[in-house]
Amino acid sequence: MRVLGIETSCDETGVALYDSERGLLADALFSQIDLHRIYGGVVPELASRDHVKRLIPLLREVFAAAGVAEGEVDGVAYTAGPGLVGALLVGGACAKAMAFAWGVPALGVHHMEGHLLAPMLEEQPPEFPFVALLVSGGHTQLVRVDGIGRYQLLGESLDDAAGEAFDKTAKLMGLPYPGGPEIARLAQAGTPGRFVFPRPMTDRPGLDFSFSGLKTAVLNTWQQCQAADDASEQTRSDIARAFELAVVETLTIKCRRALKATGLKRLVIAGGVSANRELRHSLGKMAAGLKGELFYARPAFCTDNGAMIAYAGCQRLLAGQQDQAGIQARARWPM
Ligand code: KG4
Ligand code: ZN
Repeated sequence: MRVLGIETSCDETGVALYDSERGLLADALFSQIDLHRIYGGVVPELASRDHVKRLIPLLREVFAAAGVAEGEVDGVAYTAGPGLVGALLVGGACAKAMAFAWGVPALGVHHMEGHLLAPMLEEQPPEFPFVALLVSGGHTQLVRVDGIGRYQLLGESLDDAAGEAFDKTAKLMGLPYPGGPEIARLAQAGTPGRFVFPRPMTDRPGLDFSFSGLKTAVLNTWQQCQAADDASEQTRSDIARAFELAVVETLTIKCRRALKATGLKRLVIAGGVSANRELRHSLGKMAAGLKGELFYARPAFCTDNGAMIAYAGCQRLLAGQQDQAGIQARARWPM
């Protein structure tokens, strides 16, 4: 089965072709980061309009790159939520129109299921069952995964998502959007141990997270440094390092707990924050210590992309699912 995947939930337009026998045929992405940067975050209306502009050229690009005639697919999958509703509607309308014209089924896919399954596109994909840590700009969740569509939520953030904490922390220190990669870059030059931030909710049992207090701790420290005329680049790096370490250690403690509680040996990380090198390193070491194994997607498939939607859609279409009439678009949607 050959499936076209369309991702437009936020600020990247992603399109890909996945074949259940041959694997990923082609994928293309346009990132709107430069468009939103001057506003310090994503402006929903600008995002929707730009998706309209980019989608058709990207569709043409992936068919050409795959050497597949336009429309030679067995289904069209699109992100139906969660995300910015206007942006979702652009992808959904395009997918439905294409599917109707080509006489094939369309299917709305959950964005976080896309992220969750992205490591399946790698050369050595994890086998089921596994524990997944989903860490994106909008979500932080620990999930037990027994198969496609067989997900059990083990824990989640009670306030900010991990990526959101990176973005907000970066913003309060005057760093550009998106903050995750900026913090990670600065942290490399940071002095270890100059600042220490809390590891929220690690002293209590359970698998939930809370990151909003960590952001406040950074704000207080940054303001004290500014008042002491010490708001230098080095201080920023030192804070970035301490912040990154606090997030990484918190996530590592909870993942370890989740592996122990479930008795599973395989850990999968997915979503934008799973591109973080320190996080990969820390979780890899922890999993090895439990005689387990860590899996993740290539960096381009950690953040938003069309390939993960094509893959997830293909699995569900193979299982016989398809959309009702109308475009599915849900700003909020539990997985
Ligand atoms: O999965 P994603 O592309 O979009 C959502 O579904 O939210 O995740 C984007 C998030 C942003 O918060 C961004 O700052 C964060 O992932 N991110 C990172 C890194 N790369 C992206 N956070 C930490 N370290 C990184 N290297
Ligand atoms: Zn995402």
